[in-house]
Amino acid sequence: MLQRCILRLYHVLALVLCVSASDDFDWTKNEKSSFYYGTFPTGFSWGAGSSAYQTEGAWNIDGKGMSIWDAFARKKGKIFSNDTGDSSCEGYYKYKDDISLMKDMKLNHYRFSISWPRILPSGLKNEHINEKGIKYYDDLINMLLENKITPIVTLYHWDLPQLLQEKYGGWQNGSMVNHFNDFANLCFERFGNRVKYWITFNNPWSIAVEGYETGEHAPGLKLKGTGAYKAAHHIIKAHAKVWHTYDMQWRSKQKGLVGISLTADWGEPVDITNQRDIEAAERYIQFYMGWFATPIFNGDYPQVMKDYVGRKSGQQGLGASRLPVFSPQEKSYIKGTCDFLGLGHFTTRYVTMKNYPSGLGDSYFSDRDLAELVDPQWPDPGSEWLYSVPWGFRRLLNFVKTQYGNPMIYVTENGVSEKMQCTDLCDDWRMKYFKDYINEMLKALKDGVNVKGYTAWSLLDNFEWDEGFSERFGLYYVDFRSKNKPRYPKASVQFYKRIISSNGFPNQREVESWKRKAVETCSSSNQLLAAGQCDTVFNIMSLFHNKTLSSGPYPLIGHMEMVTEIVVPTVCTLCILLSAVFLMFLLRGRL
Ligand code: NOJ
Repeated sequence: MLQRCILRLYHVLALVLCVSASDDFDWTKNEKSSFYYGTFPTGFSWGAGSSAYQTEGAWNIDGKGMSIWDAFARKKGKIFSNDTGDSSCEGYYKYKDDISLMKDMKLNHYRFSISWPRILPSGLKNEHINEKGIKYYDDLINMLLENKITPIVTLYHWDLPQLLQEKYGGWQNGSMVNHFNDFANLCFERFGNRVKYWITFNNPWSIAVEGYETGEHAPGLKLKGTGAYKAAHHIIKAHAKVWHTYDMQWRSKQKGLVGISLTADWGEPVDITNQRDIEAAERYIQFYMGWFATPIFNGDYPQVMKDYVGRKSGQQGLGASRLPVFSPQEKSYIKGTCDFLGLGHFTTRYVTMKNYPSGLGDSYFSDRDLAELVDPQWPDPGSEWLYSVPWGFRRLLNFVKTQYGNPMIYVTENGVSEKMQCTDLCDDWRMKYFKDYINEMLKALKDGVNVKGYTAWSLLDNFEWDEGFSERFGLYYVDFRSKNKPRYPKASVQFYKRIISSNGFPNQREVESWKRKAVETCSSSNQLLAAGQCDTVFNIMSLFHNKTLSSGPYPLIGHMEMVTEIVVPTVCTLCILLSAVFLMFLLRGRL
């Protein structure tokens, strides 16, 4: 009897501890402290990231099959300026050069993704394995390891084989769970002796919402209110299945880790003393990151999602919730399938409650009953949606810690773009963004968040999905108009290098000197590049006057290409114009 009582008490206590552990994120306190000088723990991993469709190019080379992005980008009007990733950065051919850039920066890891249709052109393992595609990734992985750079490999960064979309409807279909598992299993078999960090999905929120709800991304479906939930449901199951496959078949031999990369903005209550704002902000996060993280860490969708989507589905007169349901077996199968959490983070929103009456076009967005706001004072140097709000990063990291039992985190994406037409390699706003966001991550580490690594997004400017090449996130500028796609370091390369070599921010004097030194290295080459990007005839003058043409730290070959491409046609045009004017004068004189 006494034993039973003690056991019961123990269970109650465990439950209380559990509940409070997941509940103790303090919404009411947001101390925005000043810059923190200090360093990261030894062994903290610094890296940069990319993805296959955004950088590889070679879209139809060496037996690669078509992906949904190859197909989507070909439809007129879907992508800014009808750009495609057909050649992009030519990463397929230039990976050796890119590894040299990484080596120069002393990166500890490189995050890239494997293109599913490059190694399985039809998407199906039992149909055809493309050995040339396998060889490309073999070579890339081997060369990274030779240079002591750890590969962190994403299995799915959005480029589903087009045939799977056509045959099955992509992630709307449950059969995708097995097809993805076959593909992942093949990757473990072929690369797992060397790859120890696997990410199943990159940003499943975007796959579901932008691919199947708004249709802004491939495959471009607009299945409002249902498509995203269904896609997410299959993605979560596919993730869990792949984790179990690794766990059962490969872990003991290969000793690697399998995680998922979730991207989330932070949502801050407009008024942290107002309970309704706090609840709205929490809903924002739960519908964003919690949608995927809660099943994976805790076994089911967030209660608030079940409540809201269920209630609104009922009001619509539907017999069941638009949010699918996991069976008890599925819940326990999915729970705990994460060796580390990959976290992508870029920006923050203020959130307040807003009621969307049901029946007026229900959608994922209206299900949340909230409004998003931004502070006009927040800097927004790049993409329309990207405001620089460093303190949001620390809040998000602490939220993850309290909600999901302080998991091991790798920051898999963080960075900022630029939207200007004339290129400025002296990207001081990016240096500031990195400095402040990385500093907030350091503060989060001091708060006890278990962050093990940081990945700057992105190594190179690349194909920014529906924005084409108009938004540049790279540490390296890529000249996309030039056939050879030369790379040029922005000032932030120098700055990031300093953070890496100091493993953080040693002291004020030193950190302040970094920016100055970084800007010194970028200004001469910057003028050159600006000449290519802006009004050619005007800038041609500064190009001729620039004596540092071949003296910068940049590949001379790139300059030469640029010079021939810009100078030759322009000089020819000027010559023709001048001759015409001369001729006119001559003729007039005669008449
Ligand atoms: C997240 C995506 O994973 C990545 O592909 C994209 O380039 C960045 N966000 C920036 O939008």
